[in-house]
Amino acid sequence: ENQEKLDEFQARIDAGEKIEPKDWMPERYRQQLIRMMSQHAHSEIVGMLPEGNWIERAPSLKRKLVLLAKVQDEAGHGLYLYSATETLGIDRSELVDQYLYGSAKYSSIFNYPTMTYADICAIGWLVDGAAIVNQTMLARSSYGPYSRANVRICKEESFHKKQGYEMLAKMADGTPEQQKMAQDSVNRWWWPSLMMFGPHDSDSPNSAELIKWQVKLKTNDELRQHFVDRMVMEAEAIGVTLPDPDLEYNEETGHWDFGDIPWDEFWNVVKGNGIMNRDRIKARRKAHEDGEWVREAANAYARKKKLSQEK
Ligand code: 3HC
Repeated sequence: ENQEKLDEFQARIDAGEKIEPKDWMPERYRQQLIRMMSQHAHSEIVGMLPEGNWIERAPSLKRKLVLLAKVQDEAGHGLYLYSATETLGIDRSELVDQYLYGSAKYSSIFNYPTMTYADICAIGWLVDGAAIVNQTMLARSSYGPYSRANVRICKEESFHKKQGYEMLAKMADGTPEQQKMAQDSVNRWWWPSLMMFGPHDSDSPNSAELIKWQVKLKTNDELRQHFVDRMVMEAEAIGVTLPDPDLEYNEETGHWDFGDIPWDEFWNVVKGNGIMNRDRIKARRKAHEDGEWVREAANAYARKKKLSQEK
């Protein structure tokens, strides 16, 4: 690519302009966006599985309706993000194949099992809470379709987080068994939620480029710190304990210091050896393959319709 075009592009980014699908962009910018946006979409779709596990076993009709609505929202988030990725000139069928049969990633957080209903509360509070911190930043991303997709996702995400937090508060204030379930769930979901923000900035090969091009406006560690600071307050407010004995308020920085994240567990899960990785991919492959006839029928109908219009 010629230097003049690259400089012009960088000047547009630095001026805070939105890059739109038909604008000139460095090939590397396009590839980075396809990677990040499609993996975000894959995460939303796979994220329906841990929660879907409790739709039939929700404790009341109200909780079932709320969980159904949330899982449907996640499907919608996935579709907005696949549509936004397709503006970069790649078809979603190729993107889906990349994670179902290739090496594309989805968020490690969805490879953990939902063992009790309290997990649905902890996921709403912690996982969607972390997603809000991340997606609020991405709503200001330099690529137009991605930033607009995140604006819409954030509106629904705050409902997801609030409903989880409200349920967890009820359990934390409930019977001794419910309190124990709530605390056990927070213990299991806290550290994996911190891993959602990605490796430390010093171990983040993509961050430098993404920050330069304002695809990311904050680094992994900055967002993680913001999340910890908020969650410490919210945990205290409902009487659950975060499972980190090293959590301590730092007068100097005004932030909460926290313990070492188990990165070997993180990379082990990212590499595919988490508790649920194989189940998640098996479930998604089955759903995809079972849906083949629907895609064929829709394509046949579209072809027939096109032919009849051309007559
Ligand atoms: N799980 C799986 N892979 C992860 C990961 C995680 N938690 N964190 C990082 N990685 C991968 C990266 O994808 C990258 O691998 P790749 O180059 O093969 O893609 C590698 O680890 C190194 O990480 P980097 O920090 O260099 O990668 P990024 O700069 O892309 O940062 C990210 C990672 C913070 C996840 C960033 O990609 C991002 O913000 N993505 C968009 C948001 C997103 O995908 N969120 C996932 C959760 S969606 C969700 O929670 C839905 C909600 O509704 C519940």
